[in-house]
Amino acid sequence: MTLAERARQVIPGGVNSGQRSIPGLTGLVVTRTEGSRFWDAEGREFTDYHAAFGPPLLGHNDPDVAAATAAAGQSLGLTGVAVTEGEVLLAEQLVELIPSVEQVLLTSTGSEATFHALRLARAVTGRRLVVKFQGCYHGWHDAVSLNVISAPDRVGRHDPTSTGILPEVLDATLVLRFNDPAGVRQAFAEHGADIAAVIVEPVPHNVGALLPTDEFLRTLREECTRAGSVLVFDEVITGFRHALGGYQSIAGVTPDLTTLGKAIANGAPLGALGGRADLMQHFSSRPGGPVFFAGTYNGHPATVAAALATLRKLREEPVHEHVFRLGDRVRTELDALYRRLGVPAVVTGYGSVFVSYFMPGPAPLTYDDLLANDTALFVGYRRNLVDHGIFELPLNLKRSHISYAHTDDDVDRLLAATEAAVTRTLREGGPDDLAHTSTMGGAAAQKAAR
Ligand SMILES: Cc1ncc(COP(=O)(O)O)c(C=O)c1O
Repeated sequence: MTLAERARQVIPGGVNSGQRSIPGLTGLVVTRTEGSRFWDAEGREFTDYHAAFGPPLLGHNDPDVAAATAAAGQSLGLTGVAVTEGEVLLAEQLVELIPSVEQVLLTSTGSEATFHALRLARAVTGRRLVVKFQGCYHGWHDAVSLNVISAPDRVGRHDPTSTGILPEVLDATLVLRFNDPAGVRQAFAEHGADIAAVIVEPVPHNVGALLPTDEFLRTLREECTRAGSVLVFDEVITGFRHALGGYQSIAGVTPDLTTLGKAIANGAPLGALGGRADLMQHFSSRPGGPVFFAGTYNGHPATVAAALATLRKLREEPVHEHVFRLGDRVRTELDALYRRLGVPAVVTGYGSVFVSYFMPGPAPLTYDDLLANDTALFVGYRRNLVDHGIFELPLNLKRSHISYAHTDDDVDRLLAATEAAVTRTLREGGPDDLAHTSTMGGAAAQKAAR
């Protein structure tokens, strides 16, 4: 039996996340990573643009991060009491770097950070409703587990990603269109007094990249301020990757709370929730604080060491300059490539993030625009890329990432491989199993409910 087959015997589906179950790749077993690469059990080498959904901004096994983590492992274990110097140093830097963050708490994952942000918002406002946007993902917990990548007939109504969520929890989440300021104003006009929080990915990267209009982010700020609702920017992807101060430092819009994760520790499991001190003071980490906050692994010395080493490198080396330059190159040259091939495509993204949608322009603003994407070509060329040693996740609408370890040579090979993979998909047709590959959509929940 292969390792993948053994995995399926003892792990449901053979993988440890519903987002790792990829049709066509069920035999893949990863054995090694380094820089921009990973290798599988068959000895195949891949240039990795999937990058674990985003954490390794410096590249895999960054030597400075690995050394800091190992050193912490040898000198400081988890005691689960009081605080360590590393936690203080990390919190001080987050307060210094991120405009909205006056105080901050550490978690192990992004989902925990968004969970606590919403619970805090409900606690301080005494209100019930949470607003999210179609296409945004904020983790696996019930309040936000809906309307990410929805099938066309599920847009415009609740589309849970899972069964087992209480209907009254789903009812307490309003789903609005991203980049639709009028829709936001209308929701506040109707429900403002009952809206505890608005949570948003300032750039919804869970559907590739929808770039926000200035008016949209400003409207969120204005309406939340007017209604006394808590504005949460979920910067789990955009934080550190797009700027040390997060996308809020680029947009010039300051939320009340910010959630962080992924690139903060280059792949070590660390999340964070920060924001206005008058809000953060409600957490039970302060004696008498009424909003319960806990976690055995919060502020784990090894992950904190990884974050400190990551931030040091992001601050001291031209990481952003490098990944932004390569990102611009990829977007410009992919765009030229598709024009040359006569393939209708929109190449977009931000900084180190890129994605090619196969549809006519202009660049998409809302999830509805993305329904025009040719899913078969999108998934098909990525499956073909695997044969060229290039890994972009073969799931609809998924973004790709460039790290500090990627080089111009990598980009040259990406472009040549993309040309071959797209041409082959156009010639042979895309996969015909896509009806079964819904990810973070409601198809599974729908089926089970029937
Ligand atoms: C924007 C955003 N928020 C929250 C999360 C949840 O983070 P985690 O998977 O670490 O729980 C993710 C994960 O992909 C994300 O992309």
